[in-house]
Amino acid sequence: MEKINMVLKRTEKVCEIFVGLGLFDFLAEDLKKRPLGRRLGIITDTRVETVLGNRLHKRLIRAGIKTDVIAIDPGEDSKQWKTVQWIFERLIALGFDRKSALIALGGGVLGDVTGFVASLYMRSIPYAQVPTTLLAQVDSCLGGKTGIDLPQGKNLLGTFYQPSRVYVDTSILGTLPYEEIQNGLAEVIKTAVVRDRGLFQLLENRHDAIVDEKRDALEEVVARCCRIKSDVVMADERDTGLRRILNFGHTVGHAIEAYTNYRVPHGMAVSMGMAAEAVLSTRMKMLQPEEKQRVLQLLKRYDLPALIPASYDTEKLIGIMHSDKKAEDGRIAVVLPKTIGDAMIMQSVPTLLIEEVIKEVQG
Ligand SMILES: NC(=O)c1ccc[n+]([C@@H]2O[C@H](COP(=O)([O-])OP(=O)(O)OC[C@H]3O[C@@H](n4cnc5c(N)ncnc54)[C@H](O)[C@@H]3O)[C@@H](O)[C@H]2O)c1
Repeated sequence: MEKINMVLKRTEKVCEIFVGLGLFDFLAEDLKKRPLGRRLGIITDTRVETVLGNRLHKRLIRAGIKTDVIAIDPGEDSKQWKTVQWIFERLIALGFDRKSALIALGGGVLGDVTGFVASLYMRSIPYAQVPTTLLAQVDSCLGGKTGIDLPQGKNLLGTFYQPSRVYVDTSILGTLPYEEIQNGLAEVIKTAVVRDRGLFQLLENRHDAIVDEKRDALEEVVARCCRIKSDVVMADERDTGLRRILNFGHTVGHAIEAYTNYRVPHGMAVSMGMAAEAVLSTRMKMLQPEEKQRVLQLLKRYDLPALIPASYDTEKLIGIMHSDKKAEDGRIAVVLPKTIGDAMIMQSVPTLLIEEVIKEVQG
């Protein structure tokens, strides 16, 4: 097991991150020895409750910790105010007070919703993250971005509120459908391209050990991603500078998600976005053509799309990019890899060039 301490300067808070295999026993003992609250509420979804929630609940009860489970419906549709209100009401009915704490058990949706609830309930109570999807383990469980969607768009309501602890156990990914693994792998590849050449090589060389049934190499992959995300968040907790580097593939990717009304899963959209943004970087004389080729090859190796469907209307995609909440004054910022393992944020990339590149990667 590896322990990473994420020290947050602004609040002088430390978020402890544990990465390992079979952490449920450790987690229960740890929460017994060093309680986060007098009692715990596991917030999960009904699917994760069946595959993992009941098991975790029993371990915590066995460790002598008073614990309740609150399960919401699985999926993005639960990221709304109605759900949050319902959880508040359940917590009140169960008698949760300011000395209580929460555990987010699930994917990114559960992490975002639980963090949001924890940041508001009784003017904030502590929480821990136990991420159960690959995407949540390598990305969303770290960094304290919480939130819900509004009818007008995703993640429009939220807070920055750091979890006190994060327990990342790659052995609990066994029940995760392959498409959810792929969603996470897109974020893993993104992390490697912008920050870790060694991880990129590991992904190239150990494909089978990462995706086969045993997934021997997955723990190392996840641990590396957690270290990188932790470093980036420590440098820029509020997402005003360096943290934006993690948006590689996301300028085009978010536009594809919105264009298709979120029918294209996040990882697939980010993968198409990475292909387009890698090509863009080469067009802007930054990423060497051979390195761009390696990025495109790696996406294909992991069954991720490196082409944007020809039927997508480029002008509409560009229009969405201009209106994205991350576009400042309508200027489109894009993360461009300089080389594999290093990237920069380019503010205000010419619209015409992006349009040309999207057309180039359509097929
Ligand atoms: N806060 C952040 O920094 C951040 C970063 C990236 C994404 N996000 C958010 O994350 C969300 C997406 O998260 P996600 O991709 O994890 O999706 P998700 O949370 O919807 O989970 C996907 C599905 O997998 C199921 N599942 C979860 N763990 C399982 C397991 N171990 N076995 C079987 N099934 C399991 C869930 O029930 C769900 O149906 C989006 O809402 C996005 O906005 C947040």
